[in-house]
Amino acid sequence: MSKNINTKLTRLIKYYSLINHNLIFSNKSINRYNRNQTSIKKNKTKKLENLREKIDKIKNCKLKEFATNLVFSDGNPNAKIMIIGEGPGANEDKEGFPFVGRAGQLLDKMLHAINLSRKNVYITNVVNYRPPENRKPTEKEVDRYLPYLKKHIEIIGPKIILLLGSTAMNAILHNADVISKMRGKWYEIEINNLKVNSIVSFHPAYLLRQPDQKKFSWIDLKMIRDKLKKF
Ligand code: URA
Repeated sequence: MSKNINTKLTRLIKYYSLINHNLIFSNKSINRYNRNQTSIKKNKTKKLENLREKIDKIKNCKLKEFATNLVFSDGNPNAKIMIIGEGPGANEDKEGFPFVGRAGQLLDKMLHAINLSRKNVYITNVVNYRPPENRKPTEKEVDRYLPYLKKHIEIIGPKIILLLGSTAMNAILHNADVISKMRGKWYEIEINNLKVNSIVSFHPAYLLRQPDQKKFSWIDLKMIRDKLKKF
């Protein structure tokens, strides 16, 4: 009899040593989505590389014919805020990064004023090649690059989009309004099924020409600073 109990006990001990007690007795839910941050980041990098390659393969584009470099982006792909400008200028075309000229220096100062830098924002443009003589991109050119810009937004998945200047505003908000009417307000927009808070503000190149407008730009920047606290 006691031998029988001993055998049963030994079997029971063996059984319990094979199973995970935590899973049986814990009332905590099991996290089946244990994807770690590193793999998410790698995935994002791959998607961005793919997008860059697709833009690089664009054919029959006048902008591309005259440009030196593809200007894709700068900053942190995991940033909560994505900044969209119009298109590269001469300095950007030479260096291959957005907002590196005088307008870019002012943008950096504006970001600094609300404790941001290129380490915690992501920057791109509506068109990825410099329009000749720094002209505005045509409607046709904007339409051609818009699907790539939307994909770019989808990959980054920002909480906030700052649209600098009328080209970015018109492209993303699909309107023909002026910045002075649209700035200083939040717009909840949907891009490729992604809901994002967007705000419009003056382009830094415009602020260099019209410094008296910087006071309005400061109001917009403070709105961004406050909104970021929520995320
Ligand atoms: N102006 C823009 O809109 N984008 C740049 O990258 C530089 C200047």
